[in-house]
Amino acid sequence: MAESKNGRYAHIVGWGKYVPNKVLTNDDLSRMVDTSDEWIVTRTGIRERRVAGPKDTTASMGLAAAKEALERAGVRPHEVDLIIVATATPEHVFPSTASLIQDALGAVKAGAFDLSAGCTGFMYALTMGNQAIRSGASEIILVIGAETLSRIMDWKDRATCVLFGDGAGAVVLRAGTLAAGGVLATLCRSDGSGGDLLMLPGGGSKFPASHQTLDQNLHTIKMNGREVFRFATRIMDKSAREVAAQAGIPIENVELIIPHQANLRIIQAAARALKLPDERFFVNLHRYGNTSSASIPIAICEAVEQGKLKPGDHCVMVGFGAGLTWGAALVKWGEPVPLHEPTRLERVYKRLLYIAAGVRSRLVRGLRRIETLLGGTPSPKPTRIDKDKQPKK
Ligand code: ACO
Repeated sequence: MAESKNGRYAHIVGWGKYVPNKVLTNDDLSRMVDTSDEWIVTRTGIRERRVAGPKDTTASMGLAAAKEALERAGVRPHEVDLIIVATATPEHVFPSTASLIQDALGAVKAGAFDLSAGCTGFMYALTMGNQAIRSGASEIILVIGAETLSRIMDWKDRATCVLFGDGAGAVVLRAGTLAAGGVLATLCRSDGSGGDLLMLPGGGSKFPASHQTLDQNLHTIKMNGREVFRFATRIMDKSAREVAAQAGIPIENVELIIPHQANLRIIQAAARALKLPDERFFVNLHRYGNTSSASIPIAICEAVEQGKLKPGDHCVMVGFGAGLTWGAALVKWGEPVPLHEPTRLERVYKRLLYIAAGVRSRLVRGLRRIETLLGGTPSPKPTRIDKDKQPKK
């Protein structure tokens, strides 16, 4: 897996994040449910989380993260081949959040789809992106993890509402052929027998929204925390070891591990099992809580900002979540993309690009309506000719 057969590697060349402004502290929560800052910090390490404002949605937050990642990569939206959005809280069941972001970016030649693998979504999406680049099918891919978990939270359930937060992170993958690097190895796994341990029962085809599902409170997260905790502590170190072995890098030589930011005790258990110091693990869950698919890409951005992820470093990313699913990747971090401070003209040009994307979208919708009015497109209504062709009774 580590060596690409055709010499193509997927390099992370851009990264971006968005978190809502509103901060919800443990003390705020203790005024909403029977909990305390002390309980939450000692059991999870979380001190505060961000909560989406009325204008924030999964698509708007994913879009903001994507714009930042494209900017850093020096890539224009029309150059992107594929957009994958990992999310457990899509804007709608369909259309995909990825398609909404594609439209807002004006990424006119990109395919787009959402991917659902709970909190492991970003690791699965990175794996899919890596494979599409290695196969030669794509050159540039946007991989986004975005979540608005606050909207599926039971704010009366102290066992879940203290854990989660909202936000988005994105990376740009670009094909590179010069040297082995970028995403060296990945793994994705699932054990669906644990599906009931962490789920959102309502709103799907089994329990579509109804008065009954509302009365039974089926549209919020249900979790067996203890079992999920046990599962997470079992697979974190195993998958980190497995992906490092695939890449041919001894785990001791991995400079940084970016784990899914669910619970500090899970991360510390993994550190002990891997016999690595805690400092080797990047942690920002005290500020954001568990942002599910967004947690690893947000952590990547902050690890780079804080100088903890440097060119040449080997970084293991490892996630776990609903499904149950888990996944990991070993990435050799590339040379820093020279951060060119955009001139005023370039900034104006970029803003115009996004305005043009909005205008284009409205224009296409308008044209579609006019076309329908003029009858220029095939209609499901039978025409006279169709009627004439009907067999006579
Ligand atoms: N404040 C105060 N007390 C609480 C709270 C709270 N916020 N939540 C639960 N309790 C109480 C329980 O009611 C229980 O009380 P009881 O003994 O009187 O019945 C007691 O604390 C112990 O409850 P447990 O659930 O056994 O607590 P535990 O030590 O297991 O910690 C926790 C709970 C923090 C949720 C832990 O199980 C955990 O972190 N699990 C993993 C969860 C996780 O990471 N989920 C995300 C997975 S990724 C994804 O895809 C979304």
